[in-house]
Amino acid sequence: MSKSAELAALIRARAGAAPVRLGLILGSGLGHLAGAVQGVAIDYADLPGFPHAAVSGHDPKLVVGDLEGVRVAVFGGRAHYYETGNPAVMRLPLEVLKALGAEAVIATNAAGSMRAGIRPGDLMLLSDHINVSGLNPLIGEPTDARFVPMTDAHDPALRARLRAAADAEGVALPEGVYAWYSGPSFETPAEIRAIRLLGGDAVGMSTVPEVILARFLGLRVAAISTITNMAAGLSDEKISHQHTKAMAPLGAVKLEKVLRRMLRGLGSDPI
Ligand code: HPA
Repeated sequence: MSKSAELAALIRARAGAAPVRLGLILGSGLGHLAGAVQGVAIDYADLPGFPHAAVSGHDPKLVVGDLEGVRVAVFGGRAHYYETGNPAVMRLPLEVLKALGAEAVIATNAAGSMRAGIRPGDLMLLSDHINVSGLNPLIGEPTDARFVPMTDAHDPALRARLRAAADAEGVALPEGVYAWYSGPSFETPAEIRAIRLLGGDAVGMSTVPEVILARFLGLRVAAISTITNMAAGLSDEKISHQHTKAMAPLGAVKLEKVLRRMLRGLGSDPI
């Protein structure tokens, strides 16, 4: 049995056998969403091969259960490339999600905005991304499946559902392009000017490897940023991880409304 199949069996034994429909990956400061799910929490430490290292502001637990009547698996902590130097660090968790039956995954993150109209506390739905880091989680993957098409990687139908849910909740959900910068240091103002010229609207240290891995695994994917700050050089505010953690909950409240509304409207339709 593959490692992901073994872990999926272990998770089913603890959380029940009903197939999971949707995965949610929670970004910095967004952990309380895991508490909204009625289900079983499993520490990553009990899931051999899951990333152990945790960034403060993340809670390394998998919660499997119901949110608005839809079976979800919530990854309370994500691992980042900058923790270990491994861009494929989220591959096993996503393989397990697939093995649990998920159709789709929604990734969330904290990000800095490069667009004047998108402010701290706002949400941004990713229409696309730019891999500024040049790293790729599929380097070393030996099969032809590694040649993953990335046109419409951010699933148009799933994005439409999220926009409709945001509209219904009166939450602004502008779309924009997310640029993945490796971290863990923040960007310089010159780097931000460069990334803006390239077409980025927000910048952050995660999500892009997960989007690539999700598409590789045949999971549909969408991602939402909670904007915690204007990117380096675009405001006088000091940028720090402390500030990110303090600001993320502002967006998290909106995010929870949007996600709940989307799930409520789902019924038995494909996600
Ligand atoms: N840059 C990178 N990552 C971030 C930022 C930022 O400005 N804010 C929150 N995460």
